[in-house]
Amino acid sequence: MTQEKNAILHIDHLQKRFGKFQALKNVTFDVYPGEVFGFIGPNGAGKSTTIRTLLGILRASGGTATLFGKDVYKDSVSIHKKLAYVPGDVYLWPNLTGGEIIDLFLKLGNTKHSARTDEMIKRFQLDTTKKARTYSKGNRQKVALVAAFSTDADFYIFDEPTSGLDPLNEEIFQKSVLELKEAGKAVLLSSHILSEVEKMCDRIGIIRDGVIVETGSLSDMRHLTRTVIQYQTINPTTELKDFKGVHNVTLETDGLTTFSVDSDQISPVMDYLSSKKIVSLQSTPPTLEDLFMRYYNSDEGR
Ligand SMILES: Nc1ncnc2c1ncn2[C@@H]1O[C@H](COP(=O)(O)OP(=O)(O)OP(=O)(O)O)[C@@H](O)[C@H]1O
Ligand SMILES: [Mg+2]
Repeated sequence: MTQEKNAILHIDHLQKRFGKFQALKNVTFDVYPGEVFGFIGPNGAGKSTTIRTLLGILRASGGTATLFGKDVYKDSVSIHKKLAYVPGDVYLWPNLTGGEIIDLFLKLGNTKHSARTDEMIKRFQLDTTKKARTYSKGNRQKVALVAAFSTDADFYIFDEPTSGLDPLNEEIFQKSVLELKEAGKAVLLSSHILSEVEKMCDRIGIIRDGVIVETGSLSDMRHLTRTVIQYQTINPTTELKDFKGVHNVTLETDGLTTFSVDSDQISPVMDYLSSKKIVSLQSTPPTLEDLFMRYYNSDEGR
């Protein structure tokens, strides 16, 4: 497939065992240039383990993972020259100032403090003169984010980078990621903030118990779920409840009727409602959260 050739990150049946415990059973997905890929799943699903494997910190027990066409474990040194990474728990040297640590991170990544670094410090309004030991969690994250965003990498990995950021700084984070995307970079973003993922990511991979259970764009995934429709018609719609894919038909007190419909059955249902002369109609597409809960709460996704 030509598409696979273009992929910056290619993961195929990746597995990781810790002793008897199989943390990754089958992780398979690709990330392309100019794309923000959202990596989501419940606590302990295997997101950070996958990311640590990509960083060459852990060695896979099976399957393959390549970045820029190179093996993530064997070629990790050369891969790291084109990679930027921000973890959720940022560890900083307590006696160095934020500014010193940013410059140290940049040096370790073989780059230098640039105008872009100053721009990012200003954007996140980070006081770089303070010792790291005095920083709050959000400020520690900002230090790592400033260093990552001012690194000219081709692939950026963020593992829950906004868990300590306030809404204002989260917006700055989102804006900065979109700039990377516009510049044609690839981004892997693991996050529990679904609205953030919904807003920013082109494609999403859902991981559960070490297995990728779904990948695709949000609109691709929406076929799996139900749209909620609220309507009023002039003529009665008594047959609605008998339609295939229609659920939870409820008559509201204000004369409106609410029901949910499987996304692939919308068309015949709409034709039926039209024939009964629609007065008002509102449709609410499933959110990423709805999709998510489906995998979290039930066994359907297995
Ligand atoms: N070094 C390790 N030794 C043994 N088990 C581990 C190790 N690292 C991770 N695990 C286990 O592997 C599973 C996946 O953990 P991982 O940290 O990848 O989850 P996660 O998806 O990042 O979760 P969270 O959303 O909480 O960050 C967990 O059950 C975890 O306990
Ligand atoms: Mg994690």
